[in-house]
Amino acid sequence: MAKHNKYNVLDLFCGCGGLSKGFEMAGYNIVLGVDFNEPALKTYAFNHKGSKTLHGDLSAPETFDKIDELVGEKTIDVIIGGPPCQGFSLTGPRNFDDERNKLYLAMIETVRRYQPKAFMIENVPGMATLYKGEVKDEILKRFRKMGYKITCQILCSADYGVPQIRKRLVFIGLRDGEEEFEFPTPSHTPENYITCEQAISDLPSLVDNTGSDVSEYEHEPITEYQKMMRGDCNVLRNHKAVDHKQFVKDTIALVPDGGNWKDLPKGVGESRNFHMAWTRYRSDKPSRTIDTGHRNNFHYKWNRCPTVRESARLQSFPDDFVFLGTKGQQDRQVGNAVPCLMAKAIGIQLFKYLDNGKK
Ligand SMILES: C[S@@+](CC[C@H](N)C(=O)[O-])C[C@H]1O[C@@H](n2cnc3c(N)ncnc32)[C@H](O)[C@@H]1O
Repeated sequence: MAKHNKYNVLDLFCGCGGLSKGFEMAGYNIVLGVDFNEPALKTYAFNHKGSKTLHGDLSAPETFDKIDELVGEKTIDVIIGGPPCQGFSLTGPRNFDDERNKLYLAMIETVRRYQPKAFMIENVPGMATLYKGEVKDEILKRFRKMGYKITCQILCSADYGVPQIRKRLVFIGLRDGEEEFEFPTPSHTPENYITCEQAISDLPSLVDNTGSDVSEYEHEPITEYQKMMRGDCNVLRNHKAVDHKQFVKDTIALVPDGGNWKDLPKGVGESRNFHMAWTRYRSDKPSRTIDTGHRNNFHYKWNRCPTVRESARLQSFPDDFVFLGTKGQQDRQVGNAVPCLMAKAIGIQLFKYLDNGKK
């Protein structure tokens, strides 16, 4: 593999660090992760031993001075981040500076301060059409005014070897060079997408107990994906099942692989009948988007929700990535993350621009 410079990265809204992990896997040096959610930041610190963390509110101006202190003399080559866009408000481009939009302004402010060679912003696809595309256009305009070549595209994680259909809008800005970033070519197509079964079939069923935070693998890995996720890891962490009520187990037992509430007999499970209710993953497909723990999605085979480790596998977190906090906090950390393998693919593609200009 080609040798690259160790480019320094700053991760804003880092959460537990899925995005950072992918960039680290690609070969970047993550200098600092910033977030205001303490449990997520604890997980981040535990798994990114070489990086600093800052517990700070990115809508508060003083946070930027703290970032400056922690970055010190280091050059920041790349800024990455996924600002939440809940409550995004815009009644016209001029209102972009509205208080509620401050989280985007945090990305703009740090890019202004550090003038990185490149930046990446990740968001939900709906952001592209929010206010008839005005928000997206305003972001493009602002960064272009700062001298960046910026482009955006909706990517699907399954195209990069992640066993999950998760679509994300990704902006990439480049400071130098003539051309815009070309997004990485997919490594997978629907014909060879990694399936749920290929991703998690080696993990204990937990049918006789609810598992624990630290346990043992019961089987050798079966698929290439499982081997890759396990790496040298020989302790199984975060594989603990929800202790469902008996009626939940009995109800989901009636749903076939890939089915949902519509497969239930009349009169069963009717308390939950919205479109996602009582959904079992399909064993022969990638999973649908991992959520933050709503308990509507079930294992394709076992009568329970996926464990944190199973969800982490579907998000392409390696097994030695440990999630800290309560089960609810862990679910939120996993569900909020950018899939590591998708981030890695973007990071590797970015090297082409950072090392030599576009090849
Ligand atoms: C979508 S998650 C980011 C996930 C992360 N990029 C990953 O790959 O794991 C958004 C994060 O923004 C954080 N956040 C939201 N508002 C914030 C604020 N005002 N200051 C700092 N962090 C904030 C949340 O705590 C959450 O962890």
